[in-house]
Amino acid sequence: FKIGVMASGGGSNFKAIIDRIGEGDLEAQCKFLITNNAGCGAVHHAEEFGIPVHHISGKTHPDQAAYEAAMLEVLDKYDVDLLILAGYMKALPLCMLKRMPDRILNIHPSLLPKFGGKGFFGHHVHEAVLAAHETESGPTVHLVSEEIDRGRILAQTKVPVMKDDTADTLAARVLVQEHALYWKTIKEYAASLGL
Ligand code: GRF
Repeated sequence: FKIGVMASGGGSNFKAIIDRIGEGDLEAQCKFLITNNAGCGAVHHAEEFGIPVHHISGKTHPDQAAYEAAMLEVLDKYDVDLLILAGYMKALPLCMLKRMPDRILNIHPSLLPKFGGKGFFGHHVHEAVLAAHETESGPTVHLVSEEIDRGRILAQTKVPVMKDDTADTLAARVLVQEHALYWKTIKEYAASLGL
């Protein structure tokens, strides 16, 4: 099956997925990377693996209609089965959700429904987990729906929160599990769809 990835940051989740494809563990092809951040680490990974990059942002497409059209054009061009959000830090336009219902996956670094929704992104998530004195945290892979971080949960991994954790140490522990969880969940979800 065919996937497309959207990422804004370091791209370690993106890299973990394309590595698994390279190893033959995930029988998929990655057709494109969409980014809103042309200089990000994910773009370097894409270039390294010869994956086409599409830079689409409020800067490249200040007009909302043109922005949405550019996104849909990429989806039309590659006709992927699943769209994988891997540290994509912007809400998707509704037209994309409508184009690919139940076909867009996201990874979030907390045990949803806890610490999800508007305002919970990046390190804020881990800071909130620590402030709430949680004893466990961990990544969630879920379907993307209109309400941020509230789509159907596909998989989670629990990790302990340690007494001396900082947002950085907790983020690092969760990230290791993100890399292990995402490709497997993509594989299982694709299989459940008969892809
Ligand atoms: C991950 O923690 C992911 O859960 C969150 O953003 C981070 C992205 O990291 N949505 P990377 O860019 O994949 O390294």
